[in-house]
Amino acid sequence: MTAAAELIRARAPGFQPALGIVLGSGLGALADRVEGAVRIAYADLPGFPPAGVSGHAGALVLGRLGGLAVAVLAGRAHYYEHGNPNEMREAIATLAALGCGSLLLTNAAGSLRTEVGPGRVMLITDHINWSGFNPLIGTAGDRRFVGMTGAYDRDLAGRLRRIGLAEAVDLAEGVYMWFSGPSFETPAEIRMARVLGADAVGMSTVPEVILARYCGLKVAALSMITNLGAGMADEELSHQQTKTEAAKGAARFERLVTALCADLAETEA
Ligand code: HPA
Repeated sequence: MTAAAELIRARAPGFQPALGIVLGSGLGALADRVEGAVRIAYADLPGFPPAGVSGHAGALVLGRLGGLAVAVLAGRAHYYEHGNPNEMREAIATLAALGCGSLLLTNAAGSLRTEVGPGRVMLITDHINWSGFNPLIGTAGDRRFVGMTGAYDRDLAGRLRRIGLAEAVDLAEGVYMWFSGPSFETPAEIRMARVLGADAVGMSTVPEVILARYCGLKVAALSMITNLGAGMADEELSHQQTKTEAAKGAARFERLVTALCADLAETEA
């Protein structure tokens, strides 16, 4: 039990979330759709990250989405803010301590496939940790040797594919490659990423997947595609564009996530 989990239990007695959700850049509006919400600022939760990036709220929101008890992390820490890939450890360990069995991670990403443009949602099926950093470096014990073969849960991915079809959300699928940021990639790096087998690039999520697997959580991850990779379109990339494009696709994205929650709630019952 983490200190934060104890505090959360005191603020929301008897509440046991089944699913944790991490909201990426520009996708924070989903937190406002949580019913019966209890909202706790990260600043009140020991070990939770300071939320320092615009487009990220910095609050834990507990309540129901699609009938499912969820714990929404509205705002995440990124490696590029402080150089610490481990900054989300306490938050993810706390979700596990509260009883979450699964974690849905979301992000904004650049697509490496011209046919998958801004506004598309991509189901992440695997990743490449290009940054070379790992949140488990320095962690003692044999549990640190986390297997990553089945890191992206097949059952959750299957549900998302089925729900995508039912909700008419045209899901792309692919491999997400983690660059540290905060500068965007160069066109040469994007060409390299394509050769190495990536379908999208972004500045988050991978350390959280590793931490979640370390904590025994099942993982699903979705990218909101906000742009084509650097050099693939005749434009300069910016965080403003990321936020604007993510917000444009947010309604479709929210439908998908809410339907996943309803689907999980049905199975739970
Ligand atoms: N690169 C890295 N991160 C991103 C991008 C990108 O092109 N778009 C949104 N987040």
